Amino acid sequence: MSDAVETDRRLLTVTDLRTTFSIAAGDVQAVRGVSFALDRGRTLGIVGESGCGKTVLARSIMRLNLGSNVTTTGTAEFAGRDLLSLPMADMHEMWGMELAMVFQDPMTSLNPLVRVGRQVTEHLRQHLGVGRAEAARTAVDLLNEVRIPEPEARLKAYPHELSGGMRQRICIAIALACEPALLFADEPTTALDVTVQHQILNLLGREQRERDMAMVLVTHDLGVVAGRTDDTLVMYAGMVVEQAPTGSLFEEMRHPYSEALLRSLPRTSQVSHTRLAAITGRPPDLIDPPSGCAFSPRCPYVQPRCREEVPPLSAVDDPDHRFACWTPVGSPEGMAAFARNVAEGLPQAVAVDLTAPSSTGSGGAS
Ligand SMILES: Nc1ncnc2c1ncn2[C@@H]1O[C@H](COP(=O)(O)OP(=O)(O)O)[C@@H](O)[C@H]1O
Ligand code: SF4
Ligand SMILES: [Mg+2]
Repeated sequence: MSDAVETDRRLLTVTDLRTTFSIAAGDVQAVRGVSFALDRGRTLGIVGESGCGKTVLARSIMRLNLGSNVTTTGTAEFAGRDLLSLPMADMHEMWGMELAMVFQDPMTSLNPLVRVGRQVTEHLRQHLGVGRAEAARTAVDLLNEVRIPEPEARLKAYPHELSGGMRQRICIAIALACEPALLFADEPTTALDVTVQHQILNLLGREQRERDMAMVLVTHDLGVVAGRTDDTLVMYAGMVVEQAPTGSLFEEMRHPYSEALLRSLPRTSQVSHTRLAAITGRPPDLIDPPSGCAFSPRCPYVQPRCREEVPPLSAVDDPDHRFACWTPVGSPEGMAAFARNVAEGLPQAVAVDLTAPSSTGSGGAS
């Protein structure tokens, strides 16, 4: 592909985005220098444990209310304009039109006191300037589009009269109404049961492809992005620790944190009550993050250098696959460090060795 074509498809370029909250206890460094690019019609998964900065990152880019104690720096160029320096009035025009967002809990974006039909049609009238009758017709079409049965009846319902899955479909319908170029979906299925989760994710995937819409799918569940996103960005403590085409990430996971997330997923082959390999320890304090690699207090591969020097996010073999680790998963140095940590009885290494000895390269040393 020529550079010209690539530039033309580029929709969003985020560069060194940092967001800090000033609170009484100090400055919470929620996002610490995130950069990524997204082309039109592509999907990006952003994955990490709760508290790693996914929502703050998405809301910072969207300029959604993060409070008055917040500072964001960096740039987020969307179709040639830096969203972070646009006047709020311009942002208001872009919301719902070019940029849309679907949240974890549909009840936070729906008004409980207003029938859903009116919420959909008001949105259409406000953003598209269409009349009442046309808005009503479009609302029915949109509900059909998101596979809501008997749309006319559902439009008369109040949000609480619908199931969680139906409510989320309504939010997706509203988000899609103005054909946005980019949709942020922040844990859109976390509040839903597993079957409905799949339906909603499939719906989002289908709409994204059919509309050539770019999508950022934010989730704490690495399993959600598998097979659903073109690229994945793994975040830890406000930073990107691994970034790759989703297929490469699963085939050749290089960062110990990504590996730990993978290990904590339920496997279909495991008996349902098998204890999962939860990640030892807790994410760090973002007011005073650890020196060196932020994952070092929990990492089974940790060595002295990790506690002193922050590993840069860089590519080794594949330019599209970047990771921030001194001794990545699968490297001889990584295996040696892991074996040493197990031998020395380092708790997080021992825990991994006991739960999944074959996947760590320890060769069943236990
Ligand atoms: N308004 C706020 N004031 C202070 N800290 C906040 C605020 N919002 C989020 N944070 C902190 O920022 C960090 C990232 O939060 P968040 O982006 O919501 O995580 P995630 O979406 O990955 O679960 C957390 O440590 C959280 O406590
Ligand atoms: S091996 Fe070191 S650099 Fe790599 S994730 Fe673990 S602590 Fe961080
Ligand atoms: Mg979140």
